[in-house]
Amino acid sequence: MIGIFDSGIGGMTVARAVEQLLPEYSILYLGDIARTPYGTKSPETIIDYSLRNTEFLLEKGSEMIVIACNTASSVATERLRQEFKVPIVEVITPAVQEVIARTRTGRIGVIGTRATIRSNIYEKTLNSLHPDYKVYSEACPLLVPLVEEGWMNKRETKMILRRYLHPLINKQIDTLVLGCTHYPLLKELIQPRIGRRVTLVDSSIETARYLEKFLRENPQVVSRPAGEVTHTYYVTDLTDSAQQVATHIFKRNVELKLV
Ligand code: DGL
Repeated sequence: MIGIFDSGIGGMTVARAVEQLLPEYSILYLGDIARTPYGTKSPETIIDYSLRNTEFLLEKGSEMIVIACNTASSVATERLRQEFKVPIVEVITPAVQEVIARTRTGRIGVIGTRATIRSNIYEKTLNSLHPDYKVYSEACPLLVPLVEEGWMNKRETKMILRRYLHPLINKQIDTLVLGCTHYPLLKELIQPRIGRRVTLVDSSIETARYLEKFLRENPQVVSRPAGEVTHTYYVTDLTDSAQQVATHIFKRNVELKLV
């Protein structure tokens, strides 16, 4: 079984991509809605929550962990790898690999939560591999609550996006990392505002592809169910807005189980 966690429901963009690419595996998802958002919290708190989420998923039988949250991936991956023996996949490496494959000019934009941008993880990782790349980052703290309110198509969201993206347009980037689980849900609004020529890197899709490759190369890590494949979605709090966003992401009714 593949264990996937996120600070809330945004990580379901990763879980959905995994369901589609790896239909032969069972998935156990934990969305820590009770303690969301992580993006405004300190690294210590994010690490503490991530440790507990991982323990929960392992107790329930997960054989590996996917950190489907950019914020937790940015600050907690190293600690989780020290604490737990199972393979841990995060969302930064797959996105970075895709950036390297796609950029032509080496001018890259990154948007994410405050904690992700403060960690400087994308810039550090990209520059360790390509010191000549220019990486420009923008924290976009208002986007997560707007998505959670279902304000994907409101005028206010478009205005705020324009404001956040403006400094990146001036930097003439050719690639933009959507460095937060919620941002794939704003892709259609982001693309025309950042410019059609800019390639958007969606960390949810890239993580699912990365996981597919990992499991093809390491099939012994996760067992395939002999019987029916199960997809179980746990949440630490059950709210109307979570249910709505989950339905929006999966385009079907998903039963959220409270733990
Ligand atoms: N899941 C978080 C991320 O990808 C966004 C929501 C939050 O701040 O907890 O960064």
